Amino acid sequence: MPPTIPTPAGLPGLHALQQMWRERSVLGALTVFNRELGNIFRLTLPGFDAVMLVGPEAARFVLVSGRDDFRWRMEADPVTMLLRHGVLVEDGDSHDQLRRAMNPALHKQMLQTYVEAIWRGTDQVMSRWSDNNTVNMLVEMRRVALLVLLDTLFKVDFSPDMDRLWQAVLKTLNYISPGVWMFSSRIPRPGYANGLRQMDEYLYQMIRLRRSHLGEPTDLLGLLISDPGMDDNLIRDQLLTMLIAGHDTSTALLSWTLYLLGKHPDIMAQAQTEVRAVLNDQPPTFDQLNKLPLLDQIIDESLRLYPPIHLGSRVAAQDLDFNGYTITAGTRVMYSIYVTQRMPEYWDAPDEFRPQRFAPDAPKPAPYTYLPFGGGPRNCIGAAYAQLEAKVILARILQKRALTLLPRRVNAHMGATLEPRPGVWMTTRPI
Ligand code: HEM
Repeated sequence: MPPTIPTPAGLPGLHALQQMWRERSVLGALTVFNRELGNIFRLTLPGFDAVMLVGPEAARFVLVSGRDDFRWRMEADPVTMLLRHGVLVEDGDSHDQLRRAMNPALHKQMLQTYVEAIWRGTDQVMSRWSDNNTVNMLVEMRRVALLVLLDTLFKVDFSPDMDRLWQAVLKTLNYISPGVWMFSSRIPRPGYANGLRQMDEYLYQMIRLRRSHLGEPTDLLGLLISDPGMDDNLIRDQLLTMLIAGHDTSTALLSWTLYLLGKHPDIMAQAQTEVRAVLNDQPPTFDQLNKLPLLDQIIDESLRLYPPIHLGSRVAAQDLDFNGYTITAGTRVMYSIYVTQRMPEYWDAPDEFRPQRFAPDAPKPAPYTYLPFGGGPRNCIGAAYAQLEAKVILARILQKRALTLLPRRVNAHMGATLEPRPGVWMTTRPI
């Protein structure tokens, strides 16, 4: 008989809830369970049951060696209900075809053509900040990320629609965030239908407009429309997938990074010196971005401490063996990026912000211990885009503004991504 997968002791579910309450966070509780139970444990709460995997061996298993034994699609899951046949929730050939169709727009060669749109979007948002006023960077970075994503990948100016659709975007994100509705399908979720309808109207109209003015496809929307295998519904699914996966993650990365810099003004000052030495007063160019090593390290370290996607979720397609434990077919399996990236076995002072651990001459992280973009063939399709985008936006902000963090409490909130809630308040003034 294979051993039973460990669960938090005592009454199943109740102990888990107590631990989460004591730790005041699910992430803290997962860290404790990992310490107490090891790299595989089962978490059962009312309405939720999953096998949790932690550490490099587990990551290699889920992402590479055992990847064909998992499915991504969960029919009754809100992510699937929202994205329908988006690349993120498809399996097998259908997934591979969608990914191939979208790859060219996110390919490294395309990225340099996006640099100008990225700093222009940043400037547009910064122009709303008056001298010495306080802004919530969680909100401001969402504005930048939305403008930039739609401009670069869909060639659409989102500014006239931003305020009108703001609540619809937040409702859509809420729809796929963990919440009390998980405990029972009978808990009503008011207000979502309207938000989703507005997003759909916007996207279908965007598709119609482009169909009527289709030139040479130079962006993601153009690529999808000129693909003979795609109808409007399938295109809508990919647009919404990219809009959600592509902007909410960047929002989290940027706002966490500004928070960490605000907490460490000495490192912010060094980054500002680096940026000004390379860019002077000019907007960044693609070639200059390679000359900002400290900014790279800051972004890498921010992604380690607060990975926007902190969990990967799958379903076991058949009975699986992990380290002698049997995971039965149909079980939800999650691998924790957050806990893995803070394991003291692999990281010195894991909870400290130390960008220099990613310096070129520092030892490389052990394999599969650093996974902010996942790994294997289903790693993040937007990884290179996201890194370039973050670098341009942060360089531009650091070049133009002096920032001071207000001393307000920030929690790592598990929404659609891991977000600094209730926000990151900073006073800003022009340099
Ligand atoms: C800081 C920014 C980002 C982070 C941290 C991030 C993280 C991730 C991670 C960890 C995965 C794999 C999840 C798993 O193994 O379960 C993933 C997949 C994905 N990401 Fe990202 N992402 C970011 C930005 C983006 C952007 C900008 C886009 C699109 C423009 C994007 C689109 C996707 C898509 C479509 C997938 C699914 C790929 C597939 O299944 O083949 N992401 N991302």
